[in-house]
Amino acid sequence: MSTPTLSPPTARGTERGGTVLRSPRVGDAAQIWRIAKDSQVLDANPSYAYLLWCRDFPATSVVAEVDGEVVGFVIGFVRPKAPDTVFVWQVAVDPSQRGRGTGTALLHKLLDDTAAAGVSILETTVSPDNEASIAMFGSVARKRGADMLKRPLFDPSAFPDDHEAEDLYTIAPITPEEHR
Ligand SMILES: CC(C)(COP(=O)(O)OP(=O)(O)OC[C@H]1O[C@@H](n2cnc3c(N)ncnc32)[C@H](O)[C@@H]1OP(=O)(O)O)[C@@H](O)C(=O)NCCC(=O)NCCS
Repeated sequence: MSTPTLSPPTARGTERGGTVLRSPRVGDAAQIWRIAKDSQVLDANPSYAYLLWCRDFPATSVVAEVDGEVVGFVIGFVRPKAPDTVFVWQVAVDPSQRGRGTGTALLHKLLDDTAAAGVSILETTVSPDNEASIAMFGSVARKRGADMLKRPLFDPSAFPDDHEAEDLYTIAPITPEEHR
């Protein structure tokens, strides 16, 4: 199967109620790292990981910007073995901006952009106690008229360190733009 062609990142900026949603640039990596680290929920990846992500996966990642400052992000990738599936690796919104629809807007933007390249399935993993995250993905599924299925993926014994289980959530089918 061929790899889907994703839109050039420069073509992807949109504005929603004062929040700009666009592809990340390498210069955004430091702020993305800060938001991830300060979330106290996400695994704190090294800052270098975010630099590489912004360099190599901008077409499957989105940042939310308010007054020129990055306040939220989603980073993902199209699964090499499943080109119809975008895997959301991390998503977070600065606490000062939560509860305003930014998390869901980031995900809808990612889905709009990747749908054009043939993506119709979203996958992610969530820890069982992360209510906000489960609510956010559930909201996206409802707006898209898609099903959201959950199954175990990694239990704590799969991790070499102290880590909660990660359940796999699958949202499908993703239909283009129907949430609008
Ligand atoms: C999860 C997170 C990204 C949500 O961001 P957000 O901008 O506040 O989300 P939204 O405002 O778009 O809300 C999305 C939906 O989730 C619901 N929701 C948000 N926070 C919630 C909470 N703490 N408890 C219950 N529901 C919540 C909202 O009511 C909304 O539902 P609706 O669309 O049916 O009204 C944010 O809480 C966060 O950054 N958490 C820390 C990092 C994290 O856990 N990331 C996910 C790891 S998989």
